[in-house]
Parts: sequence; C-alpha cells; structure tokens
Amino acid sequence: MRVLVVGSGGREHALAWKIAQSDEVKEVLVAPGNVGIGSEPKCRVAAVSSDDIGGLTALARSEKVDLVVVGPEAPLVAGLADALRGAGLQVFGPSADAAMLEGSKVFAKRLMDKYEIPSGYFEVFDEYGAAAAYLERISGPIVVKADGLAAGKGAFVCSDKNEALAALNTIMKDRAFGDAGNLVVIEECLIGEEASFIAFTDGKDVLPLASSQDHKPVFDGDKGPNTGGMGAYSPAPVVTPEVDDRIMREIMIPTVRALEAEGKPYVGFLYAGLMIKDGKARVLEFNARMGDPEAQPLLFRMETDLVELMVAAIEGRLGRMSIRWEPLDAVCVVMASGGYPGSYQKGKPIQGIEKAGAIDRVKVFHAGTGLEDGRFVTKGGRVLGVTAKAAGIADAVELAYRAVDEISWEGVHFRRDIGRKALHRD
Ligand code: AMP
Ligand code: GLY
Repeated sequence: MRVLVVGSGGREHALAWKIAQSDEVKEVLVAPGNVGIGSEPKCRVAAVSSDDIGGLTALARSEKVDLVVVGPEAPLVAGLADALRGAGLQVFGPSADAAMLEGSKVFAKRLMDKYEIPSGYFEVFDEYGAAAAYLERISGPIVVKADGLAAGKGAFVCSDKNEALAALNTIMKDRAFGDAGNLVVIEECLIGEEASFIAFTDGKDVLPLASSQDHKPVFDGDKGPNTGGMGAYSPAPVVTPEVDDRIMREIMIPTVRALEAEGKPYVGFLYAGLMIKDGKARVLEFNARMGDPEAQPLLFRMETDLVELMVAAIEGRLGRMSIRWEPLDAVCVVMASGGYPGSYQKGKPIQGIEKAGAIDRVKVFHAGTGLEDGRFVTKGGRVLGVTAKAAGIADAVELAYRAVDEISWEGVHFRRDIGRKALHRD
C-alpha cells in the first residue's frame, strides 16, 4: 500500500512514523511534511501545501496512493476529503459538512443543544451591539469565541465583563480572525480538569483511543496565553474507567449518531475537548482530527496497526476492531521557539537531536524544523515534540526531560511541568 499523509507538524510526523510501521505499507508520502518526516524509513515528502486541494488531489492520483490521511483541520473544513473522494480515493478524514463540528462553533453548540449532549449554556450573536449588551448583563467568568477557525486563538476565557468586552472587540471590531468572527459564541465558563478524548469513527461505531491530556497555556502552572499545546501525556488518570464509559455513552456515540441523523456522517478521528468535574464530562469543543501534541504520546504507545484501523473506519467495520496499547505511560514535551505563541525568530541552529533520539524509549518528533548546511535549524513556533514512554507516569516524565535536556538552541522554551497533574493526585 502507498499512503499519503497531509500536513507538516508533529502530529503528522507521528502519523507518518506509525503508518510506516504497518507491514501493509510500502511507502508513506507526506505533503508538505518536514525534515524529520523526510528522514524516516519508507517516508518521502512532496512539496504540495496542505491547503492546495487541487494539487493534493493531483498528487494522490499521479502517485497512485491507496489511502489519504488528512492531519490538520483547515483542509478538512475546506473540503479536501470531499475532493479526494470525488476523485475515487480512499480517505481517512471527515467531509466538509461533518468537519463543521470544528469549523463552526455555532454549528457544534447548536448540534449539542438539539441532541442533549452535555456542554455549557451559550448565546450566538451576529452583531457587536447585541453581544455587548448581553455581556453588560452578566457577572463573573464567561467565554467569548469566534465562530470559525482561528488556529486555536479564537477562544477567550474571561474573568469578568471587561475582559469579555475586550475579547468581543478583538473578534468583531478589530476583526482579528477575519470572517471567522462574523458570529460569536458567548458561553458558560466551565470549571474542572481538561482531557482530550479522541476516537476513530466510521459514521456509526466509535472506537476510542486511550485518554490523553494536553497543556495549552505557554508557561508552567497553566499560566500565560494559550498555545497549540505545550505537551501531552497518555493515559490521563482524570478519565477513570467510569468517566470513560460516560463519555462514550453521553458524548461520543450521541455526537456520531447526531451527525448521521443530520445527513453528515463522520469518518475519521473525532476529538472531544472535555472539562471533567465530579466524574461528569462536558464538551468544551470538538476537533475534526487528531490532537497535536496528543498524537505523539498516543501513537508512540499504540501497538495495533494504525492503517488497519483507518481502513476499517473507511469500510464501516470499526465495530469489530479493538486497539492494543503498550501498558506504558507516554509523555511528549514540546520544545518551542522563544517568544511563541507571539512572534519568534527562525533559523536558530539546534543541537542534540540525535543524542536525545538515541535514548531507548525516546522519540523526537519534528514540527517546525528545517535544514541549513546539513544542520537542523528552527523554522516554526513549536519545533520538536520530545516523546518518551516508561512504566509509570513519573518515569516517563523523567525520561522525557532527560531527552529534552540533551537538546538546545538559542531562546528555546518549554514547560517543566508536563505530566505533573497525573503525578500529584489526591
Ligand atoms: P478552543 O479554542 O475552543 O479549543 O478552546 C481553547 C481552550 O480554551 C480550551 O482548551 C479551554 O482551556 C478553554 N476553554 C474553551 N471553552 C471553554 C469554556 N466554555 N469554559 C472554560 N474554558 C474553556
Ligand atoms: N492539542 C490541541 C489540539 O490539537 O487542538
């Protein structure tokens, strides 16, 4: 089999690395990929951008690939999976209609409301004045979100009405996210502990992956602005077997059934961002894809052939599948450019990647790296996802940081407390 993976981040490195391990797979083509992916066995990168729907469809056809796996949300929301299917290709990833679950927060909230899927209360506004008047009447914390895709920056968790009005200004007056801010959702601020719950779905059955937890804020102790994710681990102890069971019954299965009932059957990874409190989970957001960096620890400890699972999802056979996990904990620490998620410099030479990657049970996934004169240099905000696995979360955390400490560049920034929530529990 030949597989095309679309995307260029740490998630796509983990996907390509895992797909390449399948005995069925002869070659993994990754567009546009990154330099870490290009040096993996069986993997090759192709210089086609992940938002070039025509170019990717032409590439998949000319390379005669048997399966296309779409990593990021933007091409899914823009209809890449539909275009590929229209060209007769097998695709793991939702249609544009189904990906609306991530592409429009208004769509997702209304769907949850209609099908009684647990989430916070909300109001939708298409006009600044009415939204501001609503905010004037509330007190306490509130969340203001742009409706459309905003690269993870469109949600503002506000401690009071003044912060909320400032967020509303950013979205509707400054139009910081362009048309993605034509509608805003103002919603209940949920409290508790977050977890990422990701599953395969074929449109009817739901096969959950192990639980995981991301660390979104940039600084230790969950301080500072939100990022795409500064680290993740799996499994997440907040998702006990009872909580897992409730999430499946109350959220994952009802959501997949709801989309089917709405005529938007969903095939791919479905990711629910959850807030968990007193054993009950409520939905913060849905994503139409695998998480980044959750993909790194999840795929690093997955034993089952990923391609078999993806093909089963495409063929509607997930009900008969199961997933085996190594009985280990896995931790990914994201190493980022100084300044991220704000502006940062590129082109800093990176030392120590090979040394870190040579440690047993450690894998260094690349995200924003480049090659200059044969040396690895920084090329993005999130640069590397240093991932380790061990028996027990404490040892996995220690091993991940041992590998992180081998790697350096000017201005490097990473959190020192990834996995701490799993370590210190009541
Ligand atoms: P989103 O852009 O929807 O993924 O939200 C990004 C982050 O904002 C989430 O991971 C949460 O930490 C936080 N967040 C989003 N919605 C809420 C909410 N309703 N209540 C509390 N925190 C939220
Ligand atoms: N790690 C959060 C996300 O992928 O959206």
